[in-house]
Amino acid sequence: MNYKAYIAKKLNVSVDLIETPPNPDMGDFALPCFKLAKEFRKAPPMIAQELADKLQNEGSDPLFSEVQVAGGYLNFFLDKSRVAEEVLGEVKAKGESFGTSDEGAGKKVLVEFSSPNIAKPFHIGHLVSTAVGSSIERIYKALGYDTVKINHIGDWGTQFGKLISAYKRWGKPEDIKKDPINELLKIYVKFHEEAEKDPSLEEEGREYFRLLEEGDDEITSLWQFFVQESLKEFNRMYNMLGISFDSYAGESFYTDKMPAIVKDLQDKNILEESDGAQVVRFEDENIPPCIIIKSNGTTIYATRDIAAAVYRKEHYDFHKNIYVVGTPQALHFKQVFGTLEKMGHSWASDCVHVGFGYVRFPDKSMSTRHGDVIFLEDVLNEAVAKTKDIIKDSPTCKIIDDIDEVSRKIGVGAVLFAFLKNGRERDIIFTWKDMLDFEGESGPYAQYSYARGRSILRKADASDISYENADFGLLTSKDEYALIKVINRYGDVIREAAEKYEPCVVTRYIIELAQHFNKFYNNCNIMKTEGELQKARLALVDAACSCLKTALNLIGVDVVEQM
Ligand code: ARG
Repeated sequence: MNYKAYIAKKLNVSVDLIETPPNPDMGDFALPCFKLAKEFRKAPPMIAQELADKLQNEGSDPLFSEVQVAGGYLNFFLDKSRVAEEVLGEVKAKGESFGTSDEGAGKKVLVEFSSPNIAKPFHIGHLVSTAVGSSIERIYKALGYDTVKINHIGDWGTQFGKLISAYKRWGKPEDIKKDPINELLKIYVKFHEEAEKDPSLEEEGREYFRLLEEGDDEITSLWQFFVQESLKEFNRMYNMLGISFDSYAGESFYTDKMPAIVKDLQDKNILEESDGAQVVRFEDENIPPCIIIKSNGTTIYATRDIAAAVYRKEHYDFHKNIYVVGTPQALHFKQVFGTLEKMGHSWASDCVHVGFGYVRFPDKSMSTRHGDVIFLEDVLNEAVAKTKDIIKDSPTCKIIDDIDEVSRKIGVGAVLFAFLKNGRERDIIFTWKDMLDFEGESGPYAQYSYARGRSILRKADASDISYENADFGLLTSKDEYALIKVINRYGDVIREAAEKYEPCVVTRYIIELAQHFNKFYNNCNIMKTEGELQKARLALVDAACSCLKTALNLIGVDVVEQM
């Protein structure tokens, strides 16, 4: 129920003016009349009084138990029974689609995320991009948008010529199959060491890249082998996270689309020569020129991104084209979007760079190792192992059916939750202690709250207590009402998260929901309550669990029934 909108309409004011007082003793909602003073040419308390009188004259509204004038504020107290009936009635009717909407129907939103580089380590930034991007995609989907998940794999560039040269000299297929990324990295590093001594190697590398660009059979199949083996490794990580993609069209996919882009730039007279390179210049002095063709005639990363954006518009006709890539690449995207705009593509403004900060590891055990693939899989595996240690000692351990599966969901969930807990532009401080704190603001805490709720519902079921026709109107105590109001905010939360491209809006909501749920759970002894009130409370547990489950799903975290 959108009570803010209801009140705003009744008062004939903008919905943005309606506030939620910090303290519920001051009402469920309030209209501060200060902003209206100018328009009405009256003192705020007077405006509040007049609005209150007007409402009274219109006759009583059963939604309001009290409308109070307090200084320049008009405070609204809602009828608790009615709110409980409406909100829980809606949850019951909509089930797990509660909070979702179809406002995005018919609109395509592309979310590009993860985008690791072939033959290079999947570093921590790629993991954060994976967590943030996957969540943003789920959030948009919940609003009815038609979403497409794109993994813009880094699989093209002059470095592949060098890699092929290195492979031909020192590579062994068996070793690479065993540990692709590390082996490829090893020979790539060796190439650079050797090239210092023998500069002709660089020339050889360039030649192989030229052959690759020409589509030479042997060279292309070597490159394909590298791509395949790297993807296998990346997919292990994606499987563990429960993440999939709709498209793996990486940089190489756009190679044959670049000549047309370059021609278009030339035809439109946007390219300028600069030290032998072809660049696009911007009026804004803070944006350095975007290089399109290097002085040696090859195209670069930015050129491929321009071709990719144009292709995506033609192929998908997107409503929004979102790039989840670390903040250090902010300038790159400004240049790319700026070039698209200069090309006359009005849809350049529908392209959005969603950046994120660095991850810091204060735990010594982690900072000594480097951000390679092993390391990241280690983080996930260690999170799962640590979780298993914790729950093995818990009193409920005996009843858990599959402790490995439960540990996996909690461990992986804890990592995702830690990545998505704070505003994405802020650095992420990653510590085992916070991440696995079952009582703090963590994934396990949220999952535990859910499992706790589900356990009591199972108990009720075993005692043949049915809450199917519960009377929600009985739920008017402080803790019950506070929880119901949090549940009611869920739809607004999804919308705000989408608008800001911020999964943390959902993560913070999950913490708030879990905290209110636990307060209610601890203060209202549900199994000792009797009769109709017990049934109503069970129905509230059910609603809170359903909301927790779908909210956790929006950040990619699975719930567990027992832990
Ligand atoms: N592969 C790049 C990297 O690891 C990220 C790609 C970002 N996406 C893009 N369309 N440029 O830095």
